[in-house]
Amino acid sequence: MALDIILLGPPGAGKGTQATRLEAERGMVQLSTGDMLRAAVKAGSPVGLQAKAVMEAGELVSDEIVSSLIGERLDELGVDTPVIFDGYPRTAAQADALDALLKARGRHLDHVIELEVDEEALVTRITGRFTCANCGEGYHDQFKLPLVPGTCDRCGHHEFKRRPDDNAETVRTRMAEYRAKTAPILPIYEARGIVTRIDGMADMDSVHDAIEAVLAPA
Ligand code: AP5
Ligand code: MG
Repeated sequence: MALDIILLGPPGAGKGTQATRLEAERGMVQLSTGDMLRAAVKAGSPVGLQAKAVMEAGELVSDEIVSSLIGERLDELGVDTPVIFDGYPRTAAQADALDALLKARGRHLDHVIELEVDEEALVTRITGRFTCANCGEGYHDQFKLPLVPGTCDRCGHHEFKRRPDDNAETVRTRMAEYRAKTAPILPIYEARGIVTRIDGMADMDSVHDAIEAVLAPA
């Protein structure tokens, strides 16, 4: 059976950074509801129109919308494709929905990895974040600048973009949402004995190695 995991942690914890690396190195597929919603907003689809203002305010999009996006993506994947859930589930209702979605497809969760971080440091991480407008490679004003200024390391493109919700004020709302609605779902998975906590303040390679140590025996 495929290895399915959840990466859990507040905004800027490094979920996307680590998921991208696991995709490249392990052939896992990252299912990020944030990325799916941003694509929907960009496309101007009905889901995007509903989600845009909610995301810009840093609040949570409805459980029904995100769970149906995840269900659709799971249906496109074979049961043998290992999946990283990034930014989903974020509420108790989404955790229930994920259980049902997985069960219906003969899948199950192997690990929930929580990236433990210092929220104040995350504000710096998030407000400094930018990505290549062409390939999506992630950068940071302080921690990871392109090797050649103004040129993407991965694809050579020269345009970069920042997320509209990556400002200090919205970040505070996103963190409050995490504390109020997402952190409380951890005990559901703790009761199943599948939670591992990792120091998300360590450098990116160390976080990666710690995740590998969890996944390797699987
Ligand atoms: P989403 O896109 O999921 O955003 P988020 O949870 O706020 O998380 P981020 O993507 O900001 O952070 P990350 O943990 O991926 O960090 P990253 O690796 O980029 O959601 C956005 C919005 O969509 C939500 O607010 C909500 O409105 C909506 N939404 C999404 N899913 C939903 C759901 N399930 N239900 C309802 N609504 C939903 O790293 C951040 C920065 O730090 C980068 O610059 C990176 O280079 C740097 N960095 C990473 N790791 C390290 C490290 N170890 N050391 C130093 N720097 C690091
Ligand atoms: Mg992310």
